[in-house]
This record gives sequence, structure tokens and C-alpha cells, in this order.
Amino acid sequence: MTQPSRVAIVTGAARGIGAATARKLAADGMAVAVVDLDEAACAETVKTISDAGGTALAVGADVSDPAQVTAAVERVVTELGPPTVLVNNAGVLRDNLLFKMSDDDWETVMAVHLRGAFLFSRAVQKHMVDAGWGRIVSLSSTSALGNRGQANYAAAKAGIQGFTKTLAFELGRFGITANAVAPGFIATDMTAATAARVGMSFEDFTKAAISQIPVGRAGRPEDVANTVSFLVSDGAGFVSGQVIYVAGGPRA
Ligand SMILES: NC(=O)c1ccc[n+]([C@@H]2O[C@H](COP(=O)([O-])OP(=O)(O)OC[C@H]3O[C@@H](n4cnc5c(N)ncnc54)[C@H](O)[C@@H]3O)[C@@H](O)[C@H]2O)c1
Repeated sequence: MTQPSRVAIVTGAARGIGAATARKLAADGMAVAVVDLDEAACAETVKTISDAGGTALAVGADVSDPAQVTAAVERVVTELGPPTVLVNNAGVLRDNLLFKMSDDDWETVMAVHLRGAFLFSRAVQKHMVDAGWGRIVSLSSTSALGNRGQANYAAAKAGIQGFTKTLAFELGRFGITANAVAPGFIATDMTAATAARVGMSFEDFTKAAISQIPVGRAGRPEDVANTVSFLVSDGAGFVSGQVIYVAGGPRA
């Protein structure tokens, strides 16, 4: 069923998983706010949605900045209407082995993933409570289970899971669900950057990843978008506080 009156916010939607999710939610019938650091960088996602007959708005905001998050949500309310779907997707990597990890590597990853999800969820929940309906999906990762070189990222992605379960407890009575999706290897700029960091071609890096994935292929941004689409649908109203691994197997 299409949901023409719903407004969704997808953060980090200029590219990768966020862009695919924005396109999918627009195809599902939602008006989508495409949020990313640089408003101009959102243009391509917005154009793809508009060209397909959907509604989208480019919004520049740093998810880790309280004032920018407040302004972004106010703009969405004014230009699209009150948001009742939120996808906390914006993310960065600052990988390093623990002994080489700087304070800034740690703080940056915490700020974007954890503070970002907190600020956006807090700003948007009011509109969901007013509507008596809402869906929050936040991006975790298989790295939440631990991953060499990612003490900061693993801690943040595990934190997203605890955050999500708490939102499920607090907001359930208002018709709001909160869930996390935890992708394994998805071919995006983020994984391409990881390949470059470890000195491998993206092709070899992808092949090595596939050798560990039970379904025998790399993940695509659309794999995650399809899972988010289900979790934000009406039909998923009794699924809350869950972490769904989208990894081609129990663990990538
Ligand atoms: N690609 C994977 O294999 C993978 C696996 C597990 C989890 N994830 C998670 O999925 C999400 C999307 O990953 P991706 O692979 O599409 O990454 P990506 O690097 O391709 O895209 C991330 C987007 O987030 C934006 N962003 C970064 N910091 C921001 C900020 N402070 N404010 C607003 N926007 C900001 C970037 O500009 C970029 O457009 C991230 O949370 C990532 O941690 C990715």
C-alpha cells in the first residue's frame, strides 16, 4: 500500500545506502527529506526521485550539530510536513588500531553515529507522538560484534542497538517503533575507502568479502533499503526494538 501523506527523513542520503533508502521510500509513496552535510550533494538523489514522479527535498545539515538538526527538522516540517519516518543513516569511518586511534578519531565517530541519531530522533519524535504513529530505523553494522581497527565504530554501532531498544520501550505506547538494521559488506564509497586504507583494490577487497558471505555475493545499497522499507511500513507495527542483520548470512 502506498503511504502518500507520510514524510520521511533519511540522513546521509546524498549517496550509498542513504540514497538508495531515500529512493525506495519515495517509491513507496513518501515525501522524502534527503539530508546530508552539503545540500548541493543531495541534488542527484532528489533529481532521481523527482524524475520518477516522487517528492523530495534536499536539506544540508551536520547530524552531529544540535542547531543544524533543529533547523533541518523545522525546514522539513515547513516544506514537506511533519515527519513520521526517520532513518538515521549518516555515517563516517575513522578506522585505526587502538594504539594509533586519536581522540579525534573516537570523537568524530561517536558524534556522527551516536549524537546524530540521538539529536534527530529527539527532534522528530514530537511529530510522531502528535501523529500517534512513527517509525525510526537506525543503521548499525555487523561491526557492532567487534572488528579489528574499528574500536570507535564498533562501539558506536553497538551503541545504536542499545539506543534503539530504549526508544522502543519509551515510544511504543505512542504508536512508534524503533529498529536497527545492521548491514554486513555493502558495496559503497565507504567500503571502497576501507579497501584503499588497507592497500587493496576494491575488486580484490570485494572478492575477499564475498568469500565470507553465505549467499555468495556482495551486499547492495538496495538490500538495506528494502529492509528499511519493510520496517517503516504499516505492516511492521508489531516489530520493535529489533536488530536485523542484512549481511547475506548470520554474520558477514
Ligand atoms: N557500506 C557498508 O558496508 C556498511 C556496513 C554496515 C553499516 N553501514 C552504515 O550504513 C550507513 C551508510 O553507509 P554508506 O556505506 O552508504 O556510506 P557512505 O560513506 O557512502 O555515505 C555516508 C553518507 O553520510 C554522510 N555524512 C557523513 N557525516 C555526516 C554528518 N555529520 N551529517 C550528515 N551527513 C553525514 C556522507 O556525506 C555520506 O553521504 C552508515 O551509517 C554506515 O556506518 C555501512
